[in-house]
Amino acid sequence: MAAWYQTTTIYQIYPRSYKDSNGDGIGDLQGIIQQLDYIRDMGFETIWLSPFYTSPQVDVGYDIADYRNIAPEYGTMADAEQLIEEVHRRGMKIVFDMVMNHTSDQHPWFRESCTSRDNPKADWYIWRDQPNNWKSILGPKGWHYCEARNQYYYASFLPFQPDLNYRNPEVKKEMFDTCRFWLQKGVDGFRLDIFNCIIKDKDFRDNPFSLLHPIPSEEYPGGNFQIRKYSLNQEENFVLAQELRQVVDEFQPDRMLLGEVFGGHENVKQYLGKKQDGLHLVFLFDILFFKFKASYFRKKIAEFEHHYPAPNIPTIVFSNHDQLRSMRRIGNDMQKAKLLAMLQSTVRAVPTFYYGEEVGMTNGYIPIKEGVDAMCKTFGWVPQFIADRLPVAINRDVCRTPMQWNTQKNAGFSTADKTWLPVNKELDNRNVAQQLQQPDSLLHTYRSLLAIRKKEKALHQGDIEIINAGNDQILAYVRTFEKEKLLVFLNFSAKKITVQVKQPVQELVFALQNVEFSPHTYILSGYNGIILKI
Ligand code: GLC
Repeated sequence: MAAWYQTTTIYQIYPRSYKDSNGDGIGDLQGIIQQLDYIRDMGFETIWLSPFYTSPQVDVGYDIADYRNIAPEYGTMADAEQLIEEVHRRGMKIVFDMVMNHTSDQHPWFRESCTSRDNPKADWYIWRDQPNNWKSILGPKGWHYCEARNQYYYASFLPFQPDLNYRNPEVKKEMFDTCRFWLQKGVDGFRLDIFNCIIKDKDFRDNPFSLLHPIPSEEYPGGNFQIRKYSLNQEENFVLAQELRQVVDEFQPDRMLLGEVFGGHENVKQYLGKKQDGLHLVFLFDILFFKFKASYFRKKIAEFEHHYPAPNIPTIVFSNHDQLRSMRRIGNDMQKAKLLAMLQSTVRAVPTFYYGEEVGMTNGYIPIKEGVDAMCKTFGWVPQFIADRLPVAINRDVCRTPMQWNTQKNAGFSTADKTWLPVNKELDNRNVAQQLQQPDSLLHTYRSLLAIRKKEKALHQGDIEIINAGNDQILAYVRTFEKEKLLVFLNFSAKKITVQVKQPVQELVFALQNVEFSPHTYILSGYNGIILKI
């Protein structure tokens, strides 16, 4: 039998933006608890929460100052425990975010580490008398000076997020015990923040300069004329994945590790372990930058199948809290959004959805100069008109605006006069309440698709085979589980296209829009998609 994490669907919640229960303009844990029935009724099976631990919130919680406590604006430990329990009571799973690579510079460990070269935490971070040439993964320098020690510390991300030193066994033990702490509370696993950055070259060899890599890419993260050969994806990092797996394997029922790792398939797949003894899942981020074309997805599916054959399983994600929402890539078109949702829930993958994607939320417009996101400081020099045209977000506020629940004040997110980020000025009916009333809404498309996916083993457990539908604009595949076979056709064009089906069809399981058909012929209108049982 397939494990739950292989068949599941994931719904990412950014706690600050989901639902504010106490009117302070900031989303919180009780707010999420209030919405659990909605999440279950939608059909999402696993919730992943971005961090809500104690933090100065400079990187909105990805800068942790106490791993075993809750930031007061989100609630209390009792709220976190209640959340876990309430999720389980509804038959869902819940995964927390674990930021193992770095702490906040306000964490007591770092404060102590900074004071001298011989305090008890002196060796908990990565200190050097002289920096080598390593840049951060964002591009700028990675080393930062500390006067009290007359030394430099390394930060893979932003300067206030010093990297922990996992070559110190005390650090590793403390962080593994932190994971145990939450696993004992019943959490079903972790999404692991920039996990591929954790272990660096022990000799601190300089990274190679490369004229060919000015811009970051999935294969060569960081860019800035440097290949991160010695600061990312080290062999020992793959081993760390296996060690962490052993920690979660101490717990029953099964828990799950989902890695935020990047740097090309050859690296990324190694985190899974040769014998499926590493992380359970890894994000495959390049698809976030999809082209809305059947040929693009045909190639991607083949590539994913090649690198992550069963029993591994690819993940598919189109939006998250770091990137522009996928709506931008499809020109805010709801028909295209439905087709994408259909692809995401029928292809062989664990789909990860981002809150608000189910109602077609778009990116907010928040100029860099008004941004809350700490990256705005790093990239404040970029002229706004260029930022508006970049394929990546350098002010991540735009994809983190409050969830749109209804047409009331602040879209029903909060009763406060000012919310932590402005609610997006929305197009038409992109909120839950209105779409619940409209049977043909995007929200209902998600609901139907998730229900079918849950019911049909071929969709949540089956193999996949791409087939030729006789037209390049149609993406077609068969999902097979034992004797069950489902055929999926997705029309990526605005035009009507006719497809022929040779086999006898038992049932038209699902269609995005009306279809005309005769026994062996199906006429798909523009952006229509169908599932046939054969
Ligand atoms: C990851 C998170 C991002 C955060 C960064 C540093 O990429 O997704 O939001 O800022 O790591 O923790």
